[in-house]
Amino acid sequence: MSDILVHTEAGVMTLTFNRVDKKNSITSSMYAELADALARAEGDAAVRCVLIQGDPTIFSAGNDIGDFLNGPPSTQESPVFRFLRGIATFTKPIVAAVCGPAVGIGTTMLFHCDLVYAGDNAMFSMPFVNLGLCPEAASSLLAPQLMGYGRAAEALLLGDPFMAEAALEMGLISRIVPPSEVAALAQRQAQKLAAKPVSSVLATKRLMRQGQASLVAARIVEEAQTFGRMLGEPAAKEAFTAFMEKRKPDFSKV
Ligand code: COA
Repeated sequence: MSDILVHTEAGVMTLTFNRVDKKNSITSSMYAELADALARAEGDAAVRCVLIQGDPTIFSAGNDIGDFLNGPPSTQESPVFRFLRGIATFTKPIVAAVCGPAVGIGTTMLFHCDLVYAGDNAMFSMPFVNLGLCPEAASSLLAPQLMGYGRAAEALLLGDPFMAEAALEMGLISRIVPPSEVAALAQRQAQKLAAKPVSSVLATKRLMRQGQASLVAARIVEEAQTFGRMLGEPAAKEAFTAFMEKRKPDFSKV
């Protein structure tokens, strides 16, 4: 079975991370599947809304670290960057259902979702610095805007995680419910959106987001260039190798 399940019903294309044994960490081929699914959804009039979900225990542990170590994304056409461009410019509404850890891109992709429903076990983190990397998905722009610089600095410079209550307060998510109810709520809300006049929904999303669409696009490219370079540098190599070897990284020499 694929690591990304795609199911379309009642106007909603549901994308489910299906790699729970590896905490739904995302490989290059999963990014390609996600990017392709979003492109199909964009062009298919039968799809009026996309829903992204994990399972009740884990949303996503972010990039698959081994995969990144073995085949780092080398160009803007790499699947991870195709996915980021796709989600950031997607014109139809995107709903997310988040339970458990949402690490790295597991959190940053949510900046590009319109309605995010979270379980009270949701935990968000952007530990790029701890991995010798820098922010991606325009999170260096969007996190300070949403959270205020002080909290964004704790989240992005220290890599401190934050829980669902904090995410709700800062407006990253729309509502918190018990983990067992998140998927059903998100699906109901997605179907509600899909039943509304499509032109009004699209115009409203465009109007809410257009003010900084070009800034977001430019920041994604700028971050990707820095991120791509840093992946090959000693700090990231040490962080990734330490993760694979299940030990603490030693940054004293990098
Ligand atoms: N890449 C690759 N494999 C990952 C992974 C990742 N990002 N996250 C988890 N896994 C794998 C683990 O290596 C382990 O594999 P194994 O069973 O073959 O040893 C399995 O998933 C379970 O992970 P584990 O760490 O034991 O689960 P946990 O419940 O204790 O912790 C997390 C869950 C998500 C908190 C923890 O796995 C984690 O912090 N992962 C790394 C997150 C990260 O730094 N992502 C990169 C962001 S750019």
